[in-house]
Amino acid sequence: MTDRFPGSPRPVPSVDGDLRDWDARTYDRIADPMARWGADVLGRLDLEGDERVLDAGCGTGRVTEQLVERLPRGRVVALDGSPAMLAEARRRLGRFLDRVEFVAADLGRPLPVAPPVDALLSTATFHWVLDHDALFRNLAAGLRPGGQLVAQCGGAGNIAAVLEAARETGEAWPGPWVFPRPAETRRRLEAAGFVEVRTWLQPEPTSLEPGEPLETFLAAIVLREHLARLRPAEGRAFVRAVVGRLARPEIDYVRLNIVARRGGRAPPAERRTSRAQRPSGGFRQRPAAQRRPSWAAGLPRAELRPRPISSPVSSPRDTPRSDRAAGARPPPDFGTFAPSGQTVRPARMRLRPAVRTAGPGCHRPGR
Ligand SMILES: C[S@@+](CC[C@H](N)C(=O)[O-])C[C@H]1O[C@@H](n2cnc3c(N)ncnc32)[C@H](O)[C@@H]1O
Repeated sequence: MTDRFPGSPRPVPSVDGDLRDWDARTYDRIADPMARWGADVLGRLDLEGDERVLDAGCGTGRVTEQLVERLPRGRVVALDGSPAMLAEARRRLGRFLDRVEFVAADLGRPLPVAPPVDALLSTATFHWVLDHDALFRNLAAGLRPGGQLVAQCGGAGNIAAVLEAARETGEAWPGPWVFPRPAETRRRLEAAGFVEVRTWLQPEPTSLEPGEPLETFLAAIVLREHLARLRPAEGRAFVRAVVGRLARPEIDYVRLNIVARRGGRAPPAERRTSRAQRPSGGFRQRPAAQRRPSWAAGLPRAELRPRPISSPVSSPRDTPRSDRAAGARPPPDFGTFAPSGQTVRPARMRLRPAVRTAGPGCHRPGR
């Protein structure tokens, strides 16, 4: 091992109330995998077209845009902690401004969303919020009784091979995320007041073009918080060193799917059963002979549900090579990935609660 990246000159980022802003332009350009997964997740949301729906962690609005299109008579609350992401989302959703509220808020804190929304969507975001008990409490409080929560985020085993490659370069920091298991997430959701909870893992190994596209994807999304701890020149070398240790130009994504309903009294007519929640509908059976991926070793079978039929099943193999590589070491200590150290003040913003940034009807509380 020749290249190491010890002694970062910059403090370790913390997401405890402080969120690092994103390079939203770059994210918007390269987040095709997230937009594709988001379309599948959105497909699980039962909508009549007139509801008010919150997109929790809307990013640049690529999935939000698909959501608004499914709500011709409804409204969308586009919430995110990053001003740059919200600005980009506002640009993308320009033709829908009469039906979209933009809210800058931290999902780890009580949500400035009133009245409660009819449904909640979230894609590629929850793993950035460390305290899932608080997250689910906040979501439940912002959702009307009987309302649906449909979400997807990083789950157990997510990017294990990438993190292993980073470790081999001497970077032992596991990142600022939580990649929970389905069972613990189900328990947390139920404790927060959700019912009819379904959670399952979905491997999504994602191939990227080698060279600049793969390096940019890693630098702007997967390893962005690692790079924030390094000087720019070190960051470039770090990304190349990680790429050099990957078995193939592929990111071993594992997604955690969530479908649930907020408990409490709801008018019977509103208690529609979603496709994903019907006893047999929406899921196809995994062939008996199918091999259990090694990243799933140790996980109860119930946590590895078949993919919903609506998924295009983009995973090229039942057992991705990178997952096999990831399986060579014990599964991560889920739920305990917490950064230590101080906040990097200049690169961050501290969110004021309940700041609505744009759109008709948006306001700054207290004004
Ligand atoms: C990978 S992006 C996903 C964006 C979009 N949902 C998509 O699928 O493309 C994650 C988003 O979560 C937001 N985010 C992360 N932690 C957050 C928090 N605690 N509160 C609000 N937003 C947060 C980030 O600002 C970012 O826009």
